[in-house]
This record gives sequence, structure tokens and C-alpha cells, in this order.
Amino acid sequence: MRIDVVTLFPEFVLQAAALGVVGRAQERGLLAVAAWNPRDFAGDAWRTVDERPYGGGPGMLMLIDPLRATLAAARAAAEAPAHVVYLGPQGARLTQRRVAQLARRPRLLLLCGRYEGVDERLLAAEVDEELSIGDYVLSGGELAAAVVIDAVGRLQEGALNHADSAAQDSFSDGLLDCPHYTRPERHALGVVPEVLLSGDHAAIRRWRRQQSLGRTWLRRPDLLAQVELDATDRRLLDEFRREQLAALR
Ligand code: ADE
Repeated sequence: MRIDVVTLFPEFVLQAAALGVVGRAQERGLLAVAAWNPRDFAGDAWRTVDERPYGGGPGMLMLIDPLRATLAAARAAAEAPAHVVYLGPQGARLTQRRVAQLARRPRLLLLCGRYEGVDERLLAAEVDEELSIGDYVLSGGELAAAVVIDAVGRLQEGALNHADSAAQDSFSDGLLDCPHYTRPERHALGVVPEVLLSGDHAAIRRWRRQQSLGRTWLRRPDLLAQVELDATDRRLLDEFRREQLAALR
């Protein structure tokens, strides 16, 4: 997969994409990330990319033409048609489901706004969708673009060392992940749940599923409400709830 990013801070985005799992995905040739700076496509000697908004008000807006020229250059850098995403707080909220859909595309073009935003006509003409990473305002789209690159990059086939570790992530089945433990078995901070040491794989699977259901119930009831539970899941969750209530008494 190829991801092009239009940003006033190319170093930031490229650095973020060079580390960890996503950096390794690039080294393995599973992902290519390129950055394009609108200042390089500005029409004047001052490399102007912003202007005051019509109608007044605070802040500056990104100009149409430097962005348009940058997008055109980025599009032309590879043959596959690019799905263009503008990162902004007014977009649809990014979810793991959306990430998985984006990860299947051959090519993304991420547009990062700065200042108060981008001229609306550019967005209407060039952008396929707007995405937000949460209900808060960042000073630019770069952090959000880094989030998209990370979440999408780690899902590229072969990026993770354990083929099934993405399937077990929080949210991949609509639920939060179960708790995890490693050595030592006994520590001043507590002991590892006995079932994980039992070697009984069916019991371990059952415990993990129950913890996953229970955690989602405790921490994100909004997620649980959207998941269809079968009879086994409902039994596991009922048992978890009873144990929680018993512990409170
Ligand atoms: N740019 C500014 N705020 C943002 C947000 N919450 N998500 C994505 N891009 C943004």
C-alpha cells in the first residue's frame, strides 16, 4: 500500500512512520509513505500557503491553489487512484472498522490542515472523505495522519510478527481486549491468574473471552450495546457480572 501525505510538516509525518511496526512494514516493502509540502507548490517567492478568511474572524485559512498543485503532484507520483482523506475535527470518527476498510485500499492521500482550516471549495472538489480521530481539536492534521498511518500500516499483511495478533486486538471483534500477564508468576504487585498457567487451552480461551466481555461491559458499555452476543457469550458475561457483584458485597 502507498500513503501520500500533504503537510506543512513532512519531517514530522515521515519520522512517525519510520518507527516501530510501521517502520518495519516500510522496510519490508509492505507500505510506502511519501510526504508533500504545499510550500514547494506556492506561487510566490514567499512560499505563501495561507490567507485571511473572507467575512473576518480569527486565524488564517490554507489557500486553494498551493494545495491543489500539491495534490496533483502527489496523485501523479503513482498509477493507482488515491482515496483522498482530509483529517479534521468535523469528520466522521475513525474506528477500527474504518481503519480495516482503509487498510484494504491500494493507495491513500492524506491531507493535513493547519491554521483555522482549508478553503471549503478545495475540500468539496478534491476530498473523498473527512475523518476525525476524536472529539477534540488539534493544531493540525499531522498527528491524526500519523494515527491513520500507524493503524492502517500495522494491518498490512506481514507487518505484524504474529499473524493473528491483529485479530486479537481490542475492537477487532467490537470488544476490548482481555488483560495480559508475563513473567514473573508471583510478584509483589500480585499473582498471575491461575487459569493462564494451567495449560488448558479451552479454559484459557473461555477466560479470555469472559474478560474481554466483562471489560467491555465495565469500561465501554456503548461498544457492548452494538455487539450481538450468542448464548455462550451471554452466559460468560452473566457469570462475570455475578462475580463482580459478589466481590462488592
Ligand atoms: N485536525 C484538528 N483536529 C483534528 C481531529 N480531532 N482529528 C483529525 N484531524 C484534526
